[in-house]
Amino acid sequence: MLNVQVQAYSGAGARAVERCDLLGLPPHSSVADALTRTYLTPAHKSAIVQTSHWMREAGMSARTDPAGNLIGRYEGLHENAPALIFGSHIDSVRNAGHYDGPLGIMLGIECVAMLAQAGQRFPFAIEVIAFGDEEGSRFPTAMLTSRAFAGTAPVDALAICDTDGVSVHQALGEFGLDPVAFFEARRDPNSVIAFVEAHIEQGPVLEAEDLPVGMVTGIASQLRYRATLKGMAAHAGTASMNLRSDALTAAAQCVLAIETVGGRLPPDLVATVGRMVVIPNAPNVVPGEVRFTLDVRAGSQEARNRAADDICAEIERICSERGIESLVEQMLDLPPSPCDPQLSATMLAAIHACGVHPRPLVSGAGHDAMILSSLCPTTMLFLRCKGGISHNPAESVDPADVQIAAEVLLEFIHRFAAEQQETNLGA
Ligand code: GLV
Ligand code: MN
Ligand code: MN
Repeated sequence: MLNVQVQAYSGAGARAVERCDLLGLPPHSSVADALTRTYLTPAHKSAIVQTSHWMREAGMSARTDPAGNLIGRYEGLHENAPALIFGSHIDSVRNAGHYDGPLGIMLGIECVAMLAQAGQRFPFAIEVIAFGDEEGSRFPTAMLTSRAFAGTAPVDALAICDTDGVSVHQALGEFGLDPVAFFEARRDPNSVIAFVEAHIEQGPVLEAEDLPVGMVTGIASQLRYRATLKGMAAHAGTASMNLRSDALTAAAQCVLAIETVGGRLPPDLVATVGRMVVIPNAPNVVPGEVRFTLDVRAGSQEARNRAADDICAEIERICSERGIESLVEQMLDLPPSPCDPQLSATMLAAIHACGVHPRPLVSGAGHDAMILSSLCPTTMLFLRCKGGISHNPAESVDPADVQIAAEVLLEFIHRFAAEQQETNLGA
C-alpha cells in the first residue's frame, strides 16, 4: 500500500474551515451578516467561481455541468479513467451555518491538493463535486442537481417554480446555463466508481462520545409535502368569530396535530412544518389562505409512510370540520439509503488506522449521498459539530477534527486504491 505522508497535511483542516467561513459572507451569500445561498442565485454563482479557483489551485480542472454542479477533476494515471468522487452541496438553508455542505467539498479539495503536491496519481481519477440544490431552499423540491447527476431528476424538473413564480428553466437561463441541456448532467455509471461524502454530523452523538469523526451506516427516509389551506379573507373587525373561515387557525391546529403524530414511536420518527406563508399577511385581515411545508422522516419507510398518511388524514379532518378547503401535494419521496457495506468497511478501517474508534451512526439528515447510491457505491464520514447544532448560524467545527477527517479521507483513498488493485489482479 502507498504511504500516506501525514505531516504534509498539517493545516488542511484549518484551511478547509477558513474557506467555508469565507463562503459564508457576501458575495457568496445573498444577505449581509448571514449565510443564505440558494440554487441558481448570484450567491451560488459566486461560490462556484471561488471554489473552482481553489479546485484549479489544488491541481484539478473545473467545470460546471448543465444542472449547475461544479465538478473538479484530478486525472488518474490514464486520461478518462473512471472517478472516485468526493463531494457535498454548496447551497444552504436560509440563515445557515457555514459547514453544512461546503465542508465536504473543501475536504475533497484538500485531499487532492495533498496528492497533487506529492505527485501521487491512481488508476482512477479523483473528482470533487459541489452539488447545487441539496437543501431545496429555493424551489419546492430538494437534491435536484444530484438527482440530475444520477439520472433520477423528475421529468417536470424544469417547470418547478420558486415562490416568486420563477421556474427552474428560467433560473438556469439567468444563471448562464442552457435549460434544454439540464438532463444531460446525467453521469454515465461507467465513469464513476464510488462516492464519498464528508459532512458534519448535525447531531450530538460524536460530541457526547468525545469522537472527532464517525462512520455513517445509512440515511433515514424522507417525505416532503406542500399543503395549501383555503378559507375566506375577511375584515378582522367585523367578521364575528363563529362566522369566519380562518385558514391560519386551521393551519395552527394542523401543525399541532403534526407535532403529535411526529412524536409517536419509533423515536427516529420526526415531522416538521418549517415554512408557512400567510395570505394576505395583514394585521386587520382574517387570513384567507395559508401554505405550509411538511417534512416527515424515519429510519423505516413503513413508519414514515404510516405517519404521513395519518397526518394527511388529520389535515383533511381538521379542515373539513372548519369549512376550509385543503390540498396536500407530495413534493419529494426519498427512501432510506444504506451506505455500501464494502466501501463503508474501507472507511471504517481508515478511521481505525487514524487512531479513532469507528462509531457507526445513522443520519437523520438527508444527503446527496442517498441520491448517488443509485449510481454507484457510497459511503459517508461524519464530523463532530459543536452541540450538534446545524441549520443555524451557530454551527461550529473544530479545525483539529477537520484535520483528522482529512487524514481519514486520505487513508481511505490509499486503502481504496489498494483494494481496487487487488480486485483488478484477481479479475
Ligand atoms: C438537509 O439538510 C436535510 O436533511 O433536509
Ligand atoms: Mn442541510
Ligand atoms: Mn447538508
